[in-house]
Amino acid sequence: MKKRVVLVSCVFLYLASIFLFKDPNCSSFELLHYSSRFTTPQFGHDSSPTNLNHLLFGLLGSEEAWHFRKEYIESWWRPNKTRGYLFLDVAPTGDDLLPWSSSSPPYRVSDNITQLIEETKHVAPTMARMVHGIMEVFREDHEGVRWVVMGDDDSIFFVDNMVDVLARYDHTKYYYLGGQSEFIMSNHWYSFNQAFGGAGFILSYPLAKAMSKYIESCLRRYPFLRSADQITMVCISDVGVILTPLKGSHQIDLRGDISGLLSSHPKAPLMSLHHLDATDSIFPSIERRQSVRHLMKAANLDQSRMLQQVICYNRPSNWSFSISWGYSVHIYENILPRSHLQLPIETFQPWGVTPKDPPYYMLNTRWRTNDSCEAPHVFFMKNVEKTKRYEILTTYSRSSPRELLSCSYSGNHSADYISKIEVYSPRRKRIEMDRCECCDVIHKKGTNKAKIKLRECRVDEIIA
Ligand SMILES: *[C@@H]1O[C@H](CO)[C@@H](O)[C@H](O)[C@H]1NC(C)=O
Ligand SMILES: *[C@@H]1O[C@H](CO)[C@@H](O)[C@H](O)[C@H]1NC(C)=O
Ligand SMILES: *[C@@H]1O[C@H](CO)[C@@H](O)[C@H](O)[C@H]1NC(C)=O
Ligand SMILES: *[C@@H]1O[C@H](CO)[C@@H](O)[C@H](O)[C@H]1NC(C)=O
Ligand SMILES: *[C@@H]1O[C@H](CO)[C@@H](O)[C@H](O)[C@H]1NC(C)=O
Repeated sequence: MKKRVVLVSCVFLYLASIFLFKDPNCSSFELLHYSSRFTTPQFGHDSSPTNLNHLLFGLLGSEEAWHFRKEYIESWWRPNKTRGYLFLDVAPTGDDLLPWSSSSPPYRVSDNITQLIEETKHVAPTMARMVHGIMEVFREDHEGVRWVVMGDDDSIFFVDNMVDVLARYDHTKYYYLGGQSEFIMSNHWYSFNQAFGGAGFILSYPLAKAMSKYIESCLRRYPFLRSADQITMVCISDVGVILTPLKGSHQIDLRGDISGLLSSHPKAPLMSLHHLDATDSIFPSIERRQSVRHLMKAANLDQSRMLQQVICYNRPSNWSFSISWGYSVHIYENILPRSHLQLPIETFQPWGVTPKDPPYYMLNTRWRTNDSCEAPHVFFMKNVEKTKRYEILTTYSRSSPRELLSCSYSGNHSADYISKIEVYSPRRKRIEMDRCECCDVIHKKGTNKAKIKLRECRVDEIIA
């Protein structure tokens, strides 16, 4: 009996999904935000697909920093759509903060836990306040919540991707999801089993509830720990839960130019970026905070492709194109294999005290080089728009001249004269994360523009 009901409802869902796909009235926006029938497993008694309203955000900040960090949060916060609170150490002051902006998350002042700090002689009161915030955000609001997302006041979240990724996990079970540090030593110093808070860590409802209940006793057990993320991890570990790492969550424990990493992002939905205050501006010709807004212009049209790497080749000139959607395009004057282009160029430096010898990173990298057959021509996103043909057009312009001779090995086909690249992608969310997209290059020799069309790879397409 029960089986039949399940079967019938599956058939219904299947038909409904076909109908939705075929519905000519379905606008492009709905299509883009429509969760595929392949990725909406059902959990618990509430079988509706996970949506943004199921996520509760708790952001920890300080009044002092909020004056200049609010723009980072406002770049992704959607008033009246994203749920959650910003916790400040003291009430906000100043004309720039008051009256409180409706584009910011509503704020709360953190609980005064002075008594607990004094009783336990806690070595890191600020960190204890941050950990205590898990309980405070849960106390504030948890009706219908499936996931509690904790972040810093400079965490950049890609909330559509978060919803899609979280929809794959059973929110009625214990889950602790998040990102490790890119810098090996940070994981070594704290823990390889720890989610780094700036990248955001995510607790399923039952785990957030358990943590809220035990947080004070846990803070009392570990008054000697100095890191909020580490205290959180040990408290969660004591409940019997370990980290599920997410490849698209980025603590960015890196310094300098992180374009190498963002141009060869791992094959996973982009969940978060962090520490953009401490790195170079991600778009070299744009001021730091404006850079984040600029990136969000692409993210607001299609988060599923955001920073996803697509590689294709132009045989007549022996060029390789590597696209990081919504961010950058690299042209190489040589046919280089995907496995090579998927390694981030080490444009960045490690965070913190650098050990004498490598390895420094939790990822393989390739060196920066002046070899003209290996060094890319670099282009950054200039503009993003919808086209009349149901596509999204992102355009990229050259950041600076490459200033190298052409690669003679592959026939001296200089790409110096290319100044603009147009990338056309379907106005449809891409959810199949197990395989890359492919692309075609349309370029007439001698013209300064190259067009690239993204498409699904053909079945037997071998790229070499
Ligand atoms: C959010 O909702 C409140 C109350 O319903 C309303 O006053 C406010 O204008 C809304 N803000 C935005 C940005 O839509
Ligand atoms: C916090 O509580 C302590 C005592 O528990 C009190 O001395 C202190 O004034 C309080 N701080 C604030 C800002 O209210
Ligand atoms: C490449 O050449 C430039 C200009 O001569 C130089 O500043 C840079 O250090 C070189 N980079 C590498 C990786 O050799
Ligand atoms: C591409 O590079 C290969 C390897 O060097 C070379 O044999 C071939 O002639 C080149 N093709 C063109 C069109 O230059
Ligand atoms: C490319 O140019 C260099 C220097 O001008 C020359 O030595 C080399 O033979 C050329 N290679 C090809 C394949 O034309």
